[in-house]
Amino acid sequence: MNPENRTDIDENIDLAHTENPTRQIKPPQRDFYPLRLRGSDGSAGRPDEQVKAGGQFELSAPESPYASQSQRHVAVSVYDSGMYSFRVWKNEIPESWAVKELPAADESAAAAGGALALTSPAQVPEFTLGELRIGGWQFHPDALRFSIVCDGEGELPRVYGMGEKMGRLERSGRVWDMWNTDEPEHVPSRDPLYVSIPFAFVAVKGEWYGVFVDNPARQYWDTALSRLNTISIDVEDEYLDIYLFKADSPRALLRKYTRLTGTTALPPAWGLGYHQSRYSYYPEAEVRRIAETFRRHNLPADVIQFDIDYMDGYRIFTWDKSGFPDPGGLITDLRDQGFKVVTIVDPGIKADPEYSVYKEGRDRNYFCTLPDGSVYTGAVWPGKAVYPDFSRSEVRSWWAGMHRELFKHGVSGIWNDMNEPADFTGDPEYRPDYTVPNELQAATDTGTPVSFARFHNLYATGMNRATREAFQQHHPDHRGFVITRSGYAGLQRDAGVWTGDNCSWWEHLEAAVPMLLGLSISGVSMVGSDTGGFQEDSSAQLYARWFSFAAFTPYFRSHTADDTRAHEPWSFGEHVLDISRHYLNLRYSLLPYIYSAFYRAETEGEPVMKPLFFEWPQDLRLAEMNDEYLFGDSFLVAPVTRADTLWRHVYLPEGNWYDFWDDTLYRGAGDRLIPAPIGRLPLFVRGGCIVPHEAPRLHTGAEHSSVLSLDIYPDEKGAATGELYCDAEEGWNYRDGEYSLITFSFRAGKLSIEFQHEGFTPPWKEIEVRVHGGRSAESGETPVPLETTADPLRLETVCLPEPFAGEQRILVQKRVPVDAGQHSL
Ligand code: GLC
Repeated sequence: MNPENRTDIDENIDLAHTENPTRQIKPPQRDFYPLRLRGSDGSAGRPDEQVKAGGQFELSAPESPYASQSQRHVAVSVYDSGMYSFRVWKNEIPESWAVKELPAADESAAAAGGALALTSPAQVPEFTLGELRIGGWQFHPDALRFSIVCDGEGELPRVYGMGEKMGRLERSGRVWDMWNTDEPEHVPSRDPLYVSIPFAFVAVKGEWYGVFVDNPARQYWDTALSRLNTISIDVEDEYLDIYLFKADSPRALLRKYTRLTGTTALPPAWGLGYHQSRYSYYPEAEVRRIAETFRRHNLPADVIQFDIDYMDGYRIFTWDKSGFPDPGGLITDLRDQGFKVVTIVDPGIKADPEYSVYKEGRDRNYFCTLPDGSVYTGAVWPGKAVYPDFSRSEVRSWWAGMHRELFKHGVSGIWNDMNEPADFTGDPEYRPDYTVPNELQAATDTGTPVSFARFHNLYATGMNRATREAFQQHHPDHRGFVITRSGYAGLQRDAGVWTGDNCSWWEHLEAAVPMLLGLSISGVSMVGSDTGGFQEDSSAQLYARWFSFAAFTPYFRSHTADDTRAHEPWSFGEHVLDISRHYLNLRYSLLPYIYSAFYRAETEGEPVMKPLFFEWPQDLRLAEMNDEYLFGDSFLVAPVTRADTLWRHVYLPEGNWYDFWDDTLYRGAGDRLIPAPIGRLPLFVRGGCIVPHEAPRLHTGAEHSSVLSLDIYPDEKGAATGELYCDAEEGWNYRDGEYSLITFSFRAGKLSIEFQHEGFTPPWKEIEVRVHGGRSAESGETPVPLETTADPLRLETVCLPEPFAGEQRILVQKRVPVDAGQHSL
């Protein structure tokens, strides 16, 4: 890193925050009063007449000292696709930043009252949808409360989703806080983290319900903690905008949610390659050394990321002249080696009267202000800093324009950080969330300012939108690549998420699985963690295990802090280098498969990484499965998250499962002990799948090999299906039909290839088809030679099994052209 920058920070700011003070955030204690029905003339209302789906009614809290202040209107609407909304408001409902498109209103269901039924005659309207009752409306001057009760006759609800959270995949039994926070510790008791997505799956009696509370103000979700069958939600605002819907599977439920809030557009193919980062590679000679070392070691990689030290004193949209005197020259040279550059961008602008971005923003009144109109000054990496007001479209366009300074030198992607927004002037007692004070104002396009009590959770969304606009302004033909630390529901339309500042702890490798799954099923398909951990020093073994796991996550990046040991694939010696290369090659060979999964993420909101209950919702062994997941449709991944492990227990759901490395065939459902020495990620292919892959390239800009491989893993009936999506891997022409979607189906020894859509000539000329035979797990053979210890530092050799089980288990192998047709194998 640049030593000058470090001095600058020490002089200017309180570093308490970076020293990780204890700062447990507790929900406030409040006395709520019940909201009851009232007639429009103020009299007590008669629920049976006034309330039905599609209707409107009035509420107030007559027993409270706030009788008139508490008055609220409620509208119940029915949309097609079986979605219900409850709007509770006093004066206005602000424009939603999360909802992309509402489904059409379903007039007929509304007229009939829909599937909702009014259940409580006691002047507290309560609606029933299947097993759920929504009601329990309550008032406090600082918050509204409502509850969702699950009438499961003894069966407790299971709760999933809710975005980026520490802890178990299944969320019941605690209070969750929706408030974007730069939380540096990530220990299980700490909540919230950087992202707030107030959307949950509630599973009760085999039915799946979605609850989405679209309000960016702070929310507290008591998920079946105070009462075992109740989710009670407090929203610190004067309105509620609630969506309630039902589906017969978690997949169908998520589809409804992503219809509402949008999906992630296909990333450029390079974004799915490997990204190498550290805080920070400095100066440019160091960046060149990193690039050259990748190539010297024959390691596939697409991106080098520049953390904050590329800037001049952490001034956004500048370059450090001594460390990076010629960014354009450097980036061109990197491009010649097959590397793209992604730069970090923080929102905090150094309050320096000599700095043009600051001067321009100040002169145009683009920064967030305090209620008296003065610009608020906080502190971030550059010392004293001001915050652009991303609630205004003109500020977003200005910010987008500023990216010229990065793009003109050839920067390809943007990494938005610190956008909770972080503010180091917090303190453990009075401002423990280390963000800007709630009194701050966002001016908004309507001209009515809103306080940060409401805008806070939208701040990152505003910034991410501005970054998207930067791509539209400067590179309209590029898809753009944006990764963010913070965000709110719907963020997936603009950015992917990495899970921030974890530590090089085995516990954090373990925690990464449910954390990424929680985000994935909350609509965010592009997700990843800092491989090896950000803070503290990784061990060789931890890095190797994390690396093999991360190769099977959507966003694959190694990163580490400024005071830790390096996290490059070669930083831990020869064995870890070999393991890293092995998994990089595997990742790159699977890019056609991964890219196809991203096509489904865009078109259907299907997560790329998904929990097992998603596929087998009936199997209760999977209901709390925190340490296994599906990657795409075909792979089950069971990462090793403990030191010195030689074996891993896995539970395999129903069906046939092929061990990826040696084709051992396991019949599910059942428990298994699987060999898992250091080089071997427990990885299974689901019987009935066809996996497309290709020869690994050093980067995605290199030419594809002429041969596509199709590995067929038959199910019990000897059949299998698969699909492949391909297009130009960059640009928007795929949206005009310039893509091909090819399906494969194998049955009775014949492979059929069909073009469901033919708008792009695939880069491969031929297909190498291989049918796997499988070897019964019961055969008694010891499948793998196991080393005596799992620690690569103490090993003489590392066993790196051959991907796709090598040749020995292949029943049939044949080359066919990439054309529609049927082939006997
Ligand atoms: C924040 C980010 C981290 C980055 C650092 C310096 O802590 O989360 O990834 O390296 O800031 O920019």
